[in-house]
Amino acid sequence: MNAAPTAAEPGHRAHASARTQPTCPIAHDAAPTVTTATPDILGEAHEFLEMFSAETNSPMSTRWAQVRAEIAAAGTWAQTPQELTFGARVAWRQSIRCVGRLRWPSLVVRDRRHTTTTAGVVQELAAHLRFATNRGRIRSTITVFAPDTPAGPTAKIHNDQLVRYAGYQQSDGHILGDPRQVPFTDRVRELGWKPPRTPSRFDILPWLVQTATEPPTLHEVPAAEVLEVPLRHPHHPWFQDLNLRWHAVPVISNMRLRIGGVDYSAAPFSGFYVAAEIATRNLADADRYNQLPVIGHLLGLVPDSDPYWRDKALLVLNEAVSASFAAHEITISDHHRESRNHAIFAAREEAAGRPAYGDWSWINGLGPMTPQDPSWSRYYAAGEPNPNFWLDSEAAAASCGERPTSLLNPRYGPAVETR
Ligand code: ARG
Repeated sequence: MNAAPTAAEPGHRAHASARTQPTCPIAHDAAPTVTTATPDILGEAHEFLEMFSAETNSPMSTRWAQVRAEIAAAGTWAQTPQELTFGARVAWRQSIRCVGRLRWPSLVVRDRRHTTTTAGVVQELAAHLRFATNRGRIRSTITVFAPDTPAGPTAKIHNDQLVRYAGYQQSDGHILGDPRQVPFTDRVRELGWKPPRTPSRFDILPWLVQTATEPPTLHEVPAAEVLEVPLRHPHHPWFQDLNLRWHAVPVISNMRLRIGGVDYSAAPFSGFYVAAEIATRNLADADRYNQLPVIGHLLGLVPDSDPYWRDKALLVLNEAVSASFAAHEITISDHHRESRNHAIFAAREEAAGRPAYGDWSWINGLGPMTPQDPSWSRYYAAGEPNPNFWLDSEAAAASCGERPTSLLNPRYGPAVETR
């Protein structure tokens, strides 16, 4: 996006939906669908090693000679644990839609490149949840599974996040649960998943995992590893009767990590939540849990005579999420604080001589961000270099419930949108 954004810039929903599969009814908020241009592994490897060498004060020449020879012989190269850790952290640093990047150097990289079987992946997904959750003191974490080979991905997680709530389309047209997950819920039910005897609004969907040598299979998420928070409001006792809840850790599991020309199709990563993600979007959006009308009603607000009824209901919902996480000693942030942190991040990047990349409408789309927030009142460098995380068209389609095709071919599916 090159045009200077204004206050009228669309929020990230409008932004994302314009860039995802036109056939998909679901507005993704993970990222727009992007497929890389012609892979240039040699060029990307060289560029990455120069970056690694400059930022970590390590010698370039011997390493480059090795890597070049390896690529010539095998078509790919193996990164050292140090290169992998650095690359994954820089992928976060260059994630232009993320407002929380100040913490990029703290990312814990779980190197699980030896894990290539479904059983191994499933075990490590549970371990990721346990480690990242840390009983509430959430640690920003990525688990990196075996890299793709020149033939394609070695492992793939079809869920868009490791913890998601099922959406059930009812015969009367209503949806129980998360409407966004209806297609994926239908898909796992076709594959044999049985919802609980009494389905609820917050049933955790199973994992759908596939490897290069094993077909897609379903795996229940171990309940003990999923920390959830019942929501209450500090001053409105009626709030708890809404019986709302959310899970503590968002783990994005369908994006491909790319470092130095090497792809890791299975590399789930997680940080902690900003309250607005849950309150202003997941629970409030009319096509998600749509809680504003009921909260507005319980607050005694009158939409016809009060143009601010939504703002007031949103505020109560944000307060409830923040206070409930805090009461359970689970890490949570708010968008004003993240805006300040992002401003510090951008200043540090520029002080280090790097462009402060960012997508204004996403950085400030977690609203209600206000013009008083420091991330609002500046522009960001255009561009989205590697290392980075990419949402492939196939991954976006699979999280919409479409059938995964062979993992081996075609590689990453067609480009839906590039820039
Ligand atoms: N917005 C997404 C959700 O509500 C999570 C995206 C990642 N967020 C994060 N704080 N790391 O589930």
